[in-house]
Amino acid sequence: MYMAQHPVRVLLIDDQESDYLLMRSMLSSIPNQAFYLEWASSDEAGLEAIRRAAPDVCVVDCGIDASDGLELLKNACEAGSKAPVILLTGTSDFQLNGEAIGLGAADFLVKDQLTAALLERSMRYAMAHARTLDELRRQQDELRASELRFRSVVQSASDAIILADDSARIIGWNRGAEAIFGYGEDEVLGFPIELLMPERYRDKHRLGFKRFRMGGRPHLIGKTVQLEGLRKDGSDFPLELSLASWTSGGGTFFTGILRDISERKRADEMQCAREAAEEASRAKSNFVANMSHELRIPLHAIIGFTNLLLKNKNSDTEARDFLERILLNAKDQLVLINNILNLSKIEAGKVDVEARPVAIDRIVRDVVRQMEGQRRSPDVEIVLRVPPSMRPITTDGAKLKQVLINLMENALKFTESGTVIVNVAASPTDFSPVRIDVIDTGPGIPPQQLDEIFEPFRQLEKRAISRRSGTGLGLTISRSLCDLLGYDLRVQSKEGRGSTFSVLLASETVLPLSA
Ligand SMILES: Nc1ncnc2c1ncn2[C@@H]1O[C@H](COP(=O)(O)OP(=O)(O)OP(=O)(O)O)[C@@H](O)[C@H]1O
Ligand SMILES: [Mg+2]
Repeated sequence: MYMAQHPVRVLLIDDQESDYLLMRSMLSSIPNQAFYLEWASSDEAGLEAIRRAAPDVCVVDCGIDASDGLELLKNACEAGSKAPVILLTGTSDFQLNGEAIGLGAADFLVKDQLTAALLERSMRYAMAHARTLDELRRQQDELRASELRFRSVVQSASDAIILADDSARIIGWNRGAEAIFGYGEDEVLGFPIELLMPERYRDKHRLGFKRFRMGGRPHLIGKTVQLEGLRKDGSDFPLELSLASWTSGGGTFFTGILRDISERKRADEMQCAREAAEEASRAKSNFVANMSHELRIPLHAIIGFTNLLLKNKNSDTEARDFLERILLNAKDQLVLINNILNLSKIEAGKVDVEARPVAIDRIVRDVVRQMEGQRRSPDVEIVLRVPPSMRPITTDGAKLKQVLINLMENALKFTESGTVIVNVAASPTDFSPVRIDVIDTGPGIPPQQLDEIFEPFRQLEKRAISRRSGTGLGLTISRSLCDLLGYDLRVQSKEGRGSTFSVLLASETVLPLSA
């Protein structure tokens, strides 16, 4: 009769030595199984032996007063003993029997009727039973741990995780759901899932569920779809739903993972709008670039023929005056068209940057020389401040020159007297130029208009009237060119004191703006 491979450790708690001897002989007569019998002659010794020796099975003699045995059983359980306990008693008392089993006794044997076979079977069953109980307890612990793990994952998710039963009632609700929908768990448990849908989705949902109850497979299972949700405060919001189902105990349950995608949608919409606007702007710039080109051709003809007519010395004074006006207007028109054409080309991305190493001091000197004639009076002094040695930089020199010409043109145009300084700042460590300033002592620009002046066709009222020149495109073109070259064009100004326009060639940390 096979019980265990190792000797079974039996603890007998019994105050009679004769019982111990009897038990020993009974155990030794059991075939195919070795036993190691320990005897404790008192309850205390018995409890101590349970703690120390961890027997496989305890046999406890209840003596005449069977309740002693029960007391011991209780104490053994409290001491954490997992060994099954078989009670031995003088009489077969059914009430006591029941009570003992209720307390966890594995079996209840009457001493007089005890045989080796009975004892062996009782011990075998008791140990098997204890093993099963132990396994069950272990599985329960594992289940509890896994449930706790699952709960903590579900609870800590920022997405809403909602469980529903096969009547579409909410049976699970995590903190993510609380944050997204605004309902606490106790406000939604047991409620139909429809609560979370705008009215317009409900009919479809009911229909889907009806189909599911009639044996159909819900369409949404295993898919991620975009829908709308209804918050507790009555507002709708776009959401993404992934739905899964599982079957347990004959019922089907659903898990929905929902994510509020309001932000994402907004960002997508903005991106689309931005792309559409950029496309429209490119198309406009393309159109303007083509148009400007077409407009230039007849203008060149007008200017050419007017020049020819002006060469005719025979024309009278009035006719010459008219011709000169035609010429002046046509030239203004040509400048305007050229400017528009330039700007449109930059905006349409049709302008290539031709970068090569250039000496900034050479460019600056060229510009100053070229612009000297545009001073409004000899009272305006042009000052050039360039560091003694500077490294060349790699850039599109022609475009940078165009920017500086525009800035100088403005400075000279708006400065009646005083100075226009062109200042180049270089890094004290590697001598590479970091900034070019065009500083004037002109009328200055009001602070609230410092941004406006870079917009196309924007000219400050008074000045535009005072001098009939310019189209209001110089700064717009300059800023676009700077963007193209990777530079920053900034302005600082004090009304009545003058303005400083700066081209930042590199991000600088050391040099203050000098005036
Ligand atoms: N240095 C400056 N001092 C004072 N005001 C300025 C200065 N530079 C620009 N502005 C103001 O900013 C406006 C826009 O300048 P911008 O160079 O774009 O146009 P513009 O000089 O009027 O015409 P364009 O440059 O097309 O010939 C000017 O009309 C002027 O009112
Ligand atoms: Mg200008």
